[in-house]
Amino acid sequence: MRKAFVVTSALVLLAVIAQFYFAAVSAFTLPHEHNALHATNGLIVIPAIALINTIAASLARAGGRTIGLAALPFLLVILQVVIIVASLLLLPGVETIGEGFGAEVVQQGGPAVYAVGLHAVNGLIILWVTVVTLRRARAHNAATDHNAAPERAVVSASEWP
Ligand code: HEM
Repeated sequence: MRKAFVVTSALVLLAVIAQFYFAAVSAFTLPHEHNALHATNGLIVIPAIALINTIAASLARAGGRTIGLAALPFLLVILQVVIIVASLLLLPGVETIGEGFGAEVVQQGGPAVYAVGLHAVNGLIILWVTVVTLRRARAHNAATDHNAAPERAVVSASEWP
Protein backbone atom coordinates (compact mmCIF):
# COMPACT_ATOMS: atom_id res chain seq x y z
CA MET A 1 0.00 0.00 0.00
CA ARG A 2 2.98 2.30 0.58
CA LYS A 3 3.93 2.09 -3.09
CA ALA A 4 0.31 2.84 -4.04
CA PHE A 5 0.49 5.95 -1.81
CA VAL A 6 3.60 7.12 -3.73
CA VAL A 7 1.75 6.58 -7.04
CA THR A 8 -1.43 8.43 -5.97
CA SER A 9 0.67 11.30 -4.52
CA ALA A 10 2.49 11.60 -7.86
CA LEU A 11 -0.88 11.62 -9.68
CA VAL A 12 -2.15 14.55 -7.54
CA LEU A 13 1.05 16.50 -8.32
CA LEU A 14 0.64 15.73 -12.04
CA ALA A 15 -2.98 16.95 -12.02
CA VAL A 16 -1.97 20.17 -10.21
CA ILE A 17 0.84 20.84 -12.74
CA ALA A 18 -1.73 20.26 -15.53
CA GLN A 19 -3.99 22.82 -13.79
CA PHE A 20 -1.29 25.50 -14.05
CA TYR A 21 -0.78 24.53 -17.70
CA PHE A 22 -4.52 24.90 -18.44
CA ALA A 23 -4.53 28.30 -16.67
CA ALA A 24 -1.63 29.47 -18.87
CA VAL A 25 -3.41 28.25 -22.03
CA SER A 26 -6.36 30.46 -21.01
CA ALA A 27 -4.12 33.42 -20.25
CA PHE A 28 -2.67 33.35 -23.77
CA THR A 29 -6.10 33.00 -25.41
CA LEU A 30 -8.19 36.01 -26.44
CA PRO A 31 -11.02 36.57 -25.81
CA HIS A 32 -10.78 34.98 -22.32
CA GLU A 33 -13.51 32.39 -22.20
CA HIS A 34 -14.58 29.84 -19.62
CA ASN A 35 -11.86 27.16 -19.65
CA ALA A 36 -13.58 23.76 -19.49
CA LEU A 37 -10.30 21.85 -18.97
CA HIS A 38 -9.27 24.05 -16.02
CA ALA A 39 -12.80 23.80 -14.55
CA THR A 40 -13.12 19.99 -14.95
CA ASN A 41 -9.61 19.30 -13.68
CA GLY A 42 -10.09 21.72 -10.76
CA LEU A 43 -13.61 20.75 -9.74
CA ILE A 44 -13.55 16.98 -10.41
CA VAL A 45 -10.13 15.42 -11.15
CA ILE A 46 -7.99 17.08 -8.43
CA PRO A 47 -10.56 16.64 -5.58
CA ALA A 48 -11.21 12.99 -6.62
CA ILE A 49 -7.50 12.01 -6.74
CA ALA A 50 -6.86 13.96 -3.51
CA LEU A 51 -9.56 11.88 -1.77
CA ILE A 52 -8.11 8.62 -3.14
CA ASN A 53 -4.66 9.81 -2.01
CA THR A 54 -5.99 10.46 1.51
CA ILE A 55 -7.42 6.92 1.66
CA ALA A 56 -4.10 5.52 0.32
CA ALA A 57 -2.18 7.49 3.00
CA SER A 58 -4.44 6.09 5.73
CA LEU A 59 -4.11 2.50 4.46
CA ALA A 60 -0.33 2.94 4.21
CA ARG A 61 -0.34 4.12 7.87
CA ALA A 62 1.61 7.19 6.84
CA GLY A 63 0.89 9.07 10.10
CA GLY A 64 -1.56 11.81 11.05
CA ARG A 65 0.42 14.75 9.62
CA THR A 66 0.96 13.09 6.24
CA ILE A 67 -2.68 11.96 6.01
CA GLY A 68 -3.72 15.55 6.81
CA LEU A 69 -1.39 16.90 4.10
CA ALA A 70 -2.83 14.41 1.59
CA ALA A 71 -6.36 15.67 2.42
CA LEU A 72 -5.43 19.37 2.29
CA PRO A 73 -5.68 19.86 -1.54
CA PHE A 74 -9.37 18.84 -1.35
CA LEU A 75 -10.08 21.66 1.12
CA LEU A 76 -7.85 24.17 -0.70
CA VAL A 77 -9.75 23.55 -3.97
CA ILE A 78 -12.95 24.58 -2.16
CA LEU A 79 -11.08 27.74 -1.08
CA GLN A 80 -10.14 28.32 -4.76
CA VAL A 81 -13.85 28.52 -5.66
CA VAL A 82 -14.65 30.65 -2.57
CA ILE A 83 -11.90 33.14 -3.59
CA ILE A 84 -13.44 33.56 -7.06
CA VAL A 85 -17.08 33.78 -5.94
CA ALA A 86 -16.43 36.02 -2.91
CA SER A 87 -14.16 38.42 -4.83
CA LEU A 88 -16.39 38.80 -7.86
CA LEU A 89 -19.72 38.90 -6.02
CA LEU A 90 -18.88 40.80 -2.85
CA LEU A 91 -16.22 43.33 -3.87
CA PRO A 92 -16.63 46.40 -6.10
CA GLY A 93 -15.08 46.43 -9.57
CA VAL A 94 -17.14 43.86 -11.47
CA GLU A 95 -19.76 44.79 -14.02
CA THR A 96 -22.07 42.11 -15.39
CA ILE A 97 -24.79 41.70 -17.98
CA GLY A 98 -27.71 39.55 -16.78
CA GLU A 99 -28.23 37.95 -13.38
CA GLY A 100 -27.48 34.67 -11.58
CA PHE A 101 -25.53 31.88 -13.31
CA GLY A 102 -26.27 33.28 -16.76
CA ALA A 103 -24.60 36.58 -15.87
CA GLU A 104 -21.64 37.53 -18.02
CA VAL A 105 -18.70 39.52 -16.64
CA VAL A 106 -18.07 42.44 -18.99
CA GLN A 107 -15.65 44.51 -16.96
CA GLN A 108 -13.42 43.97 -13.95
CA GLY A 109 -11.24 46.32 -11.96
CA GLY A 110 -10.30 47.59 -8.50
CA PRO A 111 -10.53 45.46 -5.33
CA ALA A 112 -12.34 42.53 -7.03
CA VAL A 113 -9.41 41.91 -9.41
CA TYR A 114 -6.74 42.12 -6.70
CA ALA A 115 -8.70 39.81 -4.41
CA VAL A 116 -9.37 37.23 -7.14
CA GLY A 117 -5.60 37.16 -7.82
CA LEU A 118 -5.27 35.24 -4.53
CA HIS A 119 -6.55 32.29 -6.59
CA ALA A 120 -3.04 31.98 -8.09
CA VAL A 121 -1.35 32.27 -4.66
CA ASN A 122 -3.60 29.55 -3.24
CA GLY A 123 -2.73 27.51 -6.36
CA LEU A 124 0.95 27.77 -5.37
CA ILE A 125 0.11 26.61 -1.84
CA ILE A 126 -1.72 23.59 -3.33
CA LEU A 127 1.34 22.84 -5.50
CA TRP A 128 3.66 23.08 -2.46
CA VAL A 129 1.39 20.79 -0.38
CA THR A 130 1.36 18.14 -3.14
CA VAL A 131 5.18 18.25 -3.47
CA VAL A 132 5.62 17.84 0.31
CA THR A 133 3.09 14.97 0.36
CA LEU A 134 4.92 13.14 -2.45
CA ARG A 135 8.26 13.56 -0.66
CA ARG A 136 6.73 12.18 2.55
CA ALA A 137 5.15 9.27 0.67
CA ARG A 138 8.52 8.39 -0.89
CA ALA A 139 10.32 8.68 2.47
CA HIS A 140 7.68 6.47 4.12
CA ASN A 141 8.10 3.89 1.36
CA ALA A 142 11.92 4.00 1.51
CA ALA A 143 11.95 3.66 5.32
CA THR A 144 9.74 0.58 5.06
CA ASP A 145 11.92 -0.96 2.33
CA HIS A 146 14.98 -0.33 4.47
CA ASN A 147 13.36 -2.02 7.48
CA ALA A 148 12.26 -4.94 5.34
CA ALA A 149 15.69 -5.43 3.78
CA PRO A 150 17.34 -7.39 6.68
CA GLU A 151 14.30 -9.66 6.79
CA ARG A 152 14.68 -10.48 3.10
CA ALA A 153 18.41 -11.00 3.65
CA VAL A 154 17.73 -13.52 6.43
CA VAL A 155 15.28 -15.43 4.25
CA SER A 156 17.67 -15.59 1.32
CA ALA A 157 20.60 -16.58 3.59
CA SER A 158 18.60 -19.41 5.12
CA GLU A 159 17.67 -20.57 1.63
CA TRP A 160 21.35 -20.72 0.66
CA PRO A 161 22.52 -24.33 0.44
C1 HEM B 1 -3.93 24.00 -8.04
C2 HEM B 1 -4.20 25.09 -8.69
C3 HEM B 1 -5.58 25.54 -9.12
C4 HEM B 1 -6.82 24.99 -8.86
C5 HEM B 1 -7.16 23.75 -8.06
C6 HEM B 1 -7.80 25.82 -9.55
C7 HEM B 1 -9.16 25.60 -9.54
C8 HEM B 1 -10.08 26.38 -10.17
C9 HEM B 1 -11.50 26.19 -10.13
C10 HEM B 1 -12.19 25.07 -9.34
C11 HEM B 1 -12.09 27.16 -10.88
C12 HEM B 1 -13.58 27.37 -11.09
C13 HEM B 1 -14.01 26.69 -12.35
C14 HEM B 1 -15.40 27.07 -12.79
O1 HEM B 1 -16.34 26.91 -12.02
O2 HEM B 1 -15.51 27.54 -13.90
C15 HEM B 1 -11.04 27.97 -11.43
C16 HEM B 1 -11.22 29.03 -12.29
C17 HEM B 1 -10.23 29.84 -12.75
N1 HEM B 1 -8.88 29.70 -12.47
FE1 HEM B 1 -8.02 28.29 -11.35
N2 HEM B 1 -7.13 26.84 -10.19
C18 HEM B 1 -5.80 26.71 -9.95
C19 HEM B 1 -4.78 27.52 -10.40
C20 HEM B 1 -4.95 28.62 -11.18
C21 HEM B 1 -3.90 29.48 -11.63
C22 HEM B 1 -2.43 29.30 -11.27
C23 HEM B 1 -4.50 30.45 -12.38
C24 HEM B 1 -3.87 31.61 -13.08
C25 HEM B 1 -2.74 32.16 -12.77
C26 HEM B 1 -5.91 30.18 -12.42
C27 HEM B 1 -6.84 30.93 -13.10
C28 HEM B 1 -8.21 30.69 -13.12
C29 HEM B 1 -9.17 31.50 -13.86
C30 HEM B 1 -8.83 32.72 -14.73
C31 HEM B 1 -10.42 30.96 -13.63
C32 HEM B 1 -11.77 31.43 -14.17
C33 HEM B 1 -11.81 31.09 -15.64
C34 HEM B 1 -12.87 30.12 -16.03
O3 HEM B 1 -14.03 30.34 -15.78
O4 HEM B 1 -12.48 29.11 -16.65
N3 HEM B 1 -6.17 29.06 -11.68
N4 HEM B 1 -9.82 27.49 -10.98
